[in-house]
Order: sequence, then structure tokens, then C-alpha cells
Amino acid sequence: AVTRTFSIIKPDATRRNLTGAVTKMLEDAGLRVVASKRIHMTREQAEGFYAVHKERPFFGELVEFMTSGPVVVQVLEGEDAVKRNRDVMGATNPKDAEDGTIRKTFAESIEANSVHGSDSEENARIEIDYFFKPEEIVG
Ligand code: CMP
Repeated sequence: AVTRTFSIIKPDATRRNLTGAVTKMLEDAGLRVVASKRIHMTREQAEGFYAVHKERPFFGELVEFMTSGPVVVQVLEGEDAVKRNRDVMGATNPKDAEDGTIRKTFAESIEANSVHGSDSEENARIEIDYFFKPEEIVG
């Protein structure tokens, strides 16, 4: 089925002017950008977005990194979008990511790993709602 997922192009990628290159890889993987905006997340926004990781040792650094520069938040649509996006992103740690994936191609480290993508359809809905109003999504 055609579904939606949520994506973030992270500060390490925007800093290196890779917004277009990352988006091209998403599009080439069969995903369509149906909403997109460049934002600089506040600390509160990043803490809320990553609340599930609050108890992790890397939480503070993660919030620091995600607020260190602009990000591009996107809604992606396509056949089985969550899985399709996760496949093209590659493993969280670029050292483990397959050739041809976004993280293998561009990521600097497990933290500066260029992209985020929802891990389930339920989380995709929650994450899309966190950043987008319905009228900002144009399918
Ligand atoms: P993301 O998909 O955005 O969700 C949580 C993020 O935490 C993850 O991508 C990584 O960038 C980051 N992360 C996961 N594990 C670690 C770690 N061990 N050290 C630092 N950052 C991490």
C-alpha cells in the first residue's frame, strides 16, 4: 500500500550542502516528497521529538547535535514507505550500513548520521504530526 513516513535531513548533511543529494537518493528509491521545510529545532522541540531516548547515555549529545544547525523535515510517500526509507537510509551506524545507502555514502558517525527515518507506521504518524499541520502536506 502507498503509505507515508517521516524523514529528517540532519545538521551534518545540511552543513555540507547535501540536502539535494540526500533527497535525490530518497526519490530514486521510489519515495515522493509531499511536505518539506527547513527549520532550526529548538532544544524543547528536539527533546520532545527524542523523548523515547531520554534515559539513553547519548541523549544530551543527541539533542545538542540536532540543534547545532538547520535540518530539513520531510514527509515521504510511497509503496511501503517506512521500510523503503529504512532500506535506503541504511544502518544507524554508518560502519554497518550497506553500500549504496544514504548513511554509507554520507554519514560521518553514529551520531552525525545524516538522516532520521521513522521506524514504524505508528511512529511515522506521531512524528509527522509533531512537525506538520495537515494542510502543509500536499500529496
Ligand atoms: P535517529 O534515527 O535519529 O534516532 C536516534 C538517534 O540517536 C540515532 O538516529 C543516532 O543518530 C543517535 N544514536 C544512536 N546511538 C547512538 C550512540 N551510541 N551515540 C550517539 N548517538 C547515537
